[in-house]
This record gives sequence, structure tokens and C-alpha cells, in this order.
Amino acid sequence: AFNLRHRHFLKELDFTPQEFRFLLDLSAQLKAAKYAGTEQPRLRGRNIALVFEKGSTRTRCAFEVAAADQGAHTTYLDPSGSHLGSKESVKDTARVLGRMFDGIQYRGHGQQVVEELAAHAGVPVWNGLTDEWHPTQMLADVLTVQEHSTKPLPEVALAYLGDARNNMGNSLLVTGALLGMDIRIVAPEQLWPTAEVRAEAAALAERTGARITLTADVAEGVRGVDFLYTDVWVSMGEPKEVWAERIELLTPYQVSMDTVRATGNPAVKFLHCLPAFHDLETEVARQLHASTGMTELEVTDELFESEHSVVFDQAENRLHTIKAVLVATLGD
Ligand code: CP
Ligand code: NVA
Repeated sequence: AFNLRHRHFLKELDFTPQEFRFLLDLSAQLKAAKYAGTEQPRLRGRNIALVFEKGSTRTRCAFEVAAADQGAHTTYLDPSGSHLGSKESVKDTARVLGRMFDGIQYRGHGQQVVEELAAHAGVPVWNGLTDEWHPTQMLADVLTVQEHSTKPLPEVALAYLGDARNNMGNSLLVTGALLGMDIRIVAPEQLWPTAEVRAEAAALAERTGARITLTADVAEGVRGVDFLYTDVWVSMGEPKEVWAERIELLTPYQVSMDTVRATGNPAVKFLHCLPAFHDLETEVARQLHASTGMTELEVTDELFESEHSVVFDQAENRLHTIKAVLVATLGD
């Protein structure tokens, strides 16, 4: 019904609701086939470049395992291992990789870089996260929402708390608008998505019937929701100087068992794209603890480890959804 062959996957706004739902359905099918042991490789002989200018655990592994499951080969270029960004331009790199590979995953900084790669590569380019958008994450998140909800998507309410002027805030707002959901951004006003992103989401919502709320009021924002979502308060590539200001602004938006109670929904589920700061198990967290005294940031350990949390289902779904993107854009 939908032919996404040779299409790029750069941002949610490039897709219609029908195309997005097609990718979700394909993800669910591929997941079921993998569990049943009936998966058919549709990417045999394909070569895929994985270009990362920032670190990654989930996205890299999801692309590698998805490709392997489907019979394709991957080449990983780490943040320091290629000439991109130092000796060779994006445009030249795109033309070189396009001569060798059938598709290119790119994770980096500005969205314009992935757009430029796509303009010159001659093969599908997939955005594995930029400062502005995280579209492969959206497929995994919505698949997880569908799996943990009995309601159709247009009846599902999701509140995103924390830094919403980042890739996750932008992507969740636009994706919720695209799919006709009740989508809420709960953050101090200076950390809302930009006016431009809000206008794009509002225009979509007019067509899809989505309800969009932007509020600084936690109680109002989370009332009655089915899902609570948060992300790190400082993203990859941001200077560490912003930590103090973010902690100051966002401490009231920490997601905890109190937030769960404020929803009034005892069955509310908790989502996080990960990695999360919820304990002192990591070096970064210990350093931050030493300078700020904080032991948990965007989410409390109690909630993260509770029955409400479906974050590892969500992480697993990165695999099935990224596989769907590869199969849809490159498959036989
Ligand atoms: N959620 C996510 O993109 O994780 P990674 O940074 O580990 O890829
Ligand atoms: N906003 C986070 C998302 C990580 C998946 C970052 O960009 O670091």
C-alpha cells in the first residue's frame, strides 16, 4: 500500500500519518516474526554505513542487529574515525559513501548536516538523532505506547516533562500532532519547543485532531495522562555550563511517584528514551553529584525501577522499528 523505497528518514514532518502508521505496523510485524523465528531476510547483500558524530548505545546496536537479522552488512564510523567534520566536507563525504553503501545512518549535531548528506548521497539517509529531531526514537516510543495501551492512539494522552527545547521535545510534540494524540509539553516556558516547531505542530493538529497543550503547570499538564515521559536535562553536545541553570529551572519537573499520583491514573506508564540519570552508578552522575549534590535528576530511581516504567520495552523497540525503516526504504 505504501512505498517508501529509496526514501530518506530525516524528520517526522516528512511523513504523512498513513506512512508513519505503515512503519509502525511493519515494526510490529517484524517484531512478531523475530519472536516466532519466522523472520525473512529482505536486505541481503546491502551495505549500510553508520556514521556517528556523537556517542550511542541503543541506536548503533539497533542498526547493527537489525541489519544483521535482515542479512545486511554494516560499517561503523565513530566520532573520531572518519574525515567527516575535520578534513572532508559533508557534501564530499556524502558522495563517497553513496558510491559504496546502499544507505547511510547519521547521528550528529545540526539537522542541516543530515539534510545535506541526504541531498548528495544518492542513497537513503536515516537520521539517528540530531540536535533538532530524533525520528527513529519516535517510532519506538509510539510502538511502546501501542503495546502498553488498550486505547487507539488518538485517545492516548502523553505528557513530556523537562527540557522540551531539545530533539525529544520537538519530536514528541510533532509526532503526537501527526498521530492525532493528546500531547502535552510540561516545562518552563523558556524550555518549550521554539515558536517555529510549535507552529508546525499546530498546523498538523488542525488536520489530525490532535490536542496540544503547552504548560508550565505540572498538575495541570499531567492530569489524566496515560504516559509520563522525560529525557535528560542537558543533551549531548551542550556545554556543561548549562547544568546549573537547567537544574534550577527543571527540578520542579522531575518525574517521581508524586507525579504519578498527580496524574490520578494508577496505571500510568513511564517512558524515557535513555540514557537516564536516576542513580549514582555512572561517572557522569558522580561528577554531577559532587558539584550539585543531586543524586537523581529528571526521574527518581523509585519511579524508574517501578512497575510503571516500561523503558526497557521501549529500548528493545528501537531494534524492531529501525529494522522497519531499513526494510521499508531498502528492502526487496
Ligand atoms: N535513546 C537513544 O538514542 O539512545 P542512544 O544514545 O544510546 O543511541
Ligand atoms: N536529548 C538527548 C536524547 C538522547 C537519546 C540527547 O540529545 O542527548
